[in-house]
Amino acid sequence: MPERAIGIFDSGIGGLTVLKEISRLLPREELFYVGDTARVPYGTKSPETVRRYALEVAEFLVGQGVKMLVVACNTASAVALEPLASRFKIPVIGVIAPGARRAATLSRGRRIGVIGTEGTVKSGAYTREIHACNPDIKVFSAPCPLFVPLAEEGWAEHHIATLAAKEYLAPLQAQNIDTLVLGCTHYPLFKNTLHALLGESVQLVDSAEETAKAVVAQLPNVGANGSGQGRVRFFVTDVPDRFTRVGGAFLGTRLEGVTQIEL
Ligand code: DGL
Repeated sequence: MPERAIGIFDSGIGGLTVLKEISRLLPREELFYVGDTARVPYGTKSPETVRRYALEVAEFLVGQGVKMLVVACNTASAVALEPLASRFKIPVIGVIAPGARRAATLSRGRRIGVIGTEGTVKSGAYTREIHACNPDIKVFSAPCPLFVPLAEEGWAEHHIATLAAKEYLAPLQAQNIDTLVLGCTHYPLFKNTLHALLGESVQLVDSAEETAKAVVAQLPNVGANGSGQGRVRFFVTDVPDRFTRVGGAFLGTRLEGVTQIEL
């Protein structure tokens, strides 16, 4: 029996932060990654459109025989997780619940900030998941739309990023949050900028790290690749050039063999 891969997808490059954490924890697993680069961004689109896109990408990965689906996009996890989970028989893991659970566990003052795309914030998905853990927690959310292009420009630690973070985070700081969920694939790149701005008293929760732990926990149900080579294959829906260049910078390695697909 050939080893089956874990299927991971995102609207584009950002989900590579999730892939990076998964391959750090599971270096022998085969990973298939789809970046829907022809239709990125998802964060500004309607829930109906994002659901349709997510289902199409997931169909492709399931057609490749993956054993598990990781929705490595916060916006798609926020609006499409249930339709995906009911459509497919394999486990479907999103990034929202793992990040929300971690934040609910960490927050001592029960005041959590959530930052994400417009779509993620509007969906209220993080708030629902945090309240499912503890309904007494106060959740304050803010979209940070400029963070996505800033990260892709390589400016997550540039002074422009600090200025944008100051503006976006001011309303959350005013609410005395003690925990901040980085609820978008690109935001882990802003950890240093956010730490410098918010100080030690605010703990940052990286949904990518928490999702990778959830994948590890799910693995015994679908079979681990003890003998796998840790091969990673990348698929994109637009020409690969930009994905290869910017994605390589995100991952800190060269991306080899990126294949363009049509959905
Ligand atoms: N991957 C998206 C997310 O985590 C950010 C980029 C986009 O808007 O498509 O929500």
